[in-house]
Amino acid sequence: MKNVIEVNDLVREFSTRGRPAKLAVEGISFEVKAGEIFGLLGPNGAGKTTTIKMLATLLTPTSGSARVLGYDVTDDRTVMQLRKRINVVSGGDRGLYYRLSAKQNLEFFADLYGIPKREQPEMCRRLLGLVGLSNAADIKVEDFSRGMKQRLHIARALVNDPELLFMDEPTIGLDPEISRSMRSMIKGLSKSGKTIILTTHYMYEAEELCDRMVILSHGKIVGQGTVGEIKDMVSDSSVIHIVTDRDPSEALGAFSADPDITVVSSRTVGGRYDTRFASVSGKTDLQAHEDVFGPFGIRLIGLDEPTLEDAYIRLTGGEE
Ligand SMILES: Nc1ncnc2c1ncn2[C@@H]1O[C@H](COP(=O)(O)OP(=O)(O)OP(=O)(O)O)[C@@H](O)[C@H]1O
Ligand SMILES: [Mg+2]
Repeated sequence: MKNVIEVNDLVREFSTRGRPAKLAVEGISFEVKAGEIFGLLGPNGAGKTTTIKMLATLLTPTSGSARVLGYDVTDDRTVMQLRKRINVVSGGDRGLYYRLSAKQNLEFFADLYGIPKREQPEMCRRLLGLVGLSNAADIKVEDFSRGMKQRLHIARALVNDPELLFMDEPTIGLDPEISRSMRSMIKGLSKSGKTIILTTHYMYEAEELCDRMVILSHGKIVGQGTVGEIKDMVSDSSVIHIVTDRDPSEALGAFSADPDITVVSSRTVGGRYDTRFASVSGKTDLQAHEDVFGPFGIRLIGLDEPTLEDAYIRLTGGEE
């Protein structure tokens, strides 16, 4: 399979006056193959958006190289050719004109891409249909819900029929049902032959969608591969899964001083307390844990295979 993206030792530094320069991206290398859904995962500030911006020619790299669809992203002579063949969907509120209707927004961007006026009505119909906004064509974006805006962001990014689509947290802040329909839309775009670079903070989303991924932390790659390969990177650690009747925060507090243990997740499920934690050294002394958690009413205790979320937390050091 052909590489549509080749990144080599890419670096981006930000200097703000009066402060030391900040390395947002610190020498990353990876490839993306044609037709893949490729994930960029990592905690806040890891460098995901900075990477996307460099690949989409919106930000100049400080050093290193990146080739996208065969073009060097820093080559001014070909940047317009490259831009015609890619597009970016970013989460959030920017990039749409609120006083214009959905259709008028798409027409505006179609004009920018030089799409002939006579082709625009059909194109708008098709794209609004694709993202499920046919009935909202003439509604102003200011009256849109968040989910509708996010769909329109996708339609907007498809105006130039890009081969490569960068999606920066496309499901952020959406309710579960809309996120699900967004995920099936992303799969549909992938099936139609587009290569997709996706950032997300949701591990289940990455697991469901991404063929391969990199995990970034503080500008560096800390994990890379398929979901299975990333899970294998932490297969030395054991995940202990405990469900209790009562809140075990007190017991968990004792763990915070133990460098061997990372609490992976702690949530309530159906009125019970569901806790997962990883032992770096692979300690699996369940009896000891039973003693600690016993007072909170143990419903279930056992060892689990690491999930993608477990692996992510281990590789990124448990940052939010
Ligand atoms: N224009 C800028 N000027 C200075 N620093 C910046 C700028 N843009 C990003 N940074 C810094 O670079 C680092 C990486 O930011 P980036 O936005 O790429 O992270 P991210 O992985 O997309 O995070 P998030 O999950 O919060 O979106 C952060 O420390 C951020 O503060
Ligand atoms: Mg970001």
